[in-house]
Amino acid sequence: MRIAMIGTGYVGLVSGACFSDFGHEVVCVDKDARKIELLHQNVMPIYEPGLAELVASNVKAGRLTFTTDLAEGVKDADAVFIAVGTPSRRGDGHADLSYVYAAAREIAEHLTRPSVIVTKSTVPVGTGDEVERIVAEMAPDSGAKVVSNPEFLREGAAIEDFKRPDRVVIGTDDEDARQVMREIYRPLSLNQGAPLLFTGRRTSELIKYAANAFLAVKITFINEIADLCETVGADVQEVSRGIGLDNRIGAKFLHAGPGYGGSCFPKDTLALLKTAADNETPLRIVEATVQVNDNRKRAMGRKVIKAMGGDAHGKTVAVLGLTFKPNTDDMRDAPSLSVIAALQDAGATVRAYDPEGVEQARPMLPGVDFCPNPYAAAEGADALVIVTEWDEFRALDLGRMAKTLRTPLLVDLRNIYPAAEAERAGLRLVGVGKPK
Ligand code: UGA
Repeated sequence: MRIAMIGTGYVGLVSGACFSDFGHEVVCVDKDARKIELLHQNVMPIYEPGLAELVASNVKAGRLTFTTDLAEGVKDADAVFIAVGTPSRRGDGHADLSYVYAAAREIAEHLTRPSVIVTKSTVPVGTGDEVERIVAEMAPDSGAKVVSNPEFLREGAAIEDFKRPDRVVIGTDDEDARQVMREIYRPLSLNQGAPLLFTGRRTSELIKYAANAFLAVKITFINEIADLCETVGADVQEVSRGIGLDNRIGAKFLHAGPGYGGSCFPKDTLALLKTAADNETPLRIVEATVQVNDNRKRAMGRKVIKAMGGDAHGKTVAVLGLTFKPNTDDMRDAPSLSVIAALQDAGATVRAYDPEGVEQARPMLPGVDFCPNPYAAAEGADALVIVTEWDEFRALDLGRMAKTLRTPLLVDLRNIYPAAEAERAGLRLVGVGKPK
């Protein structure tokens, strides 16, 4: 199959590289000439484990190319994927679809055959209808079909998620389009047996939002249970295990922490609420989730201050992990931003270390002293706070930390360390949802 991928952001680049690895001929298109130039030099615009290697090997095999020329990419393509950004629109939280519609117009202008146009970007219900309208208006004789095919990959595990998905959702009622999509995903169904779920286009668009919102609800639920655990003397990790073993609930996404962040859950829950409000069908559970999660991030800063005795003035706090999750350099809506702001507002000085996120974090965190390693950050500090669970924080020399800190206090917002281990090393441990 010949595939054009419009947009080389997270989803576009990973999907393009993986499709080419399946054996398809893929052209990735982006307007940003600098990005394309760097991709030609195998410099990735994002940090994602394994991506540079995957891109290099498929470029070498001649299956993956990059261009700024959309017409060239679209020419003769069996399928044209739209994988451009859908950020929150400033002011109202709606998904900004201007990039999607601009891409649709440009594609329509250059269609040379009845290609299948696939929206992979996360787009609100009804976007496919508008893309179809644009294409019908601009290229009435093209015979192009518009399909929804949302992506469920996670940052940091994107290639694995793409190649071994739990399911692939394809929204279209058109049998020819289904056949093209079957062919594109054939390597998946052959090797792994991943189910291809065919639905209507609107249903497919909604599945994406419902999935992200449900996961956000699940995380927020366990975070509130964690708060209750602290007040009643229970252990949230055991509660998670105890409920997660019930197959109807499932063990995943039950890790209590500082609140969810990232480029998807915050943006997608807001956009879903807008869709719900516009259609006069409120989603109260999602509304509560958004509110509880927003409050939680700053509350985690107050939790650190409380652990330090209630006063942050003149104190120094060492923060480990700034990105919204490990294995990414993405700082969008990262809990660290709110935790650090709360600490600084209360008079604390913050020193921080992150394995990959510093370049992105620096302009977002004025006044923070960035350190080259966890021990340098902890030097003379009154608390060590783990905000993001990078693997390299799982095997810290806690004895050395206890000696490096001015006050031997570890606030572990990801519950990486058992209390006994911290105590043996001479550290007082405060976790999330742990009995005192
Ligand atoms: C999320 C979804 O998991 C993907 O399926 C989806 O494709 C993607 O959004 C998207 O829409 O593009 P991602 O944002 O990369 O993926 O990261 P997650 O691993 O889902 O983590 C999101 C946030 O939830 C992080 O801040 C993480 O720390 C937090 N989280 C996750 C918890 O606090 N507890 C958990 O148990 C799990």
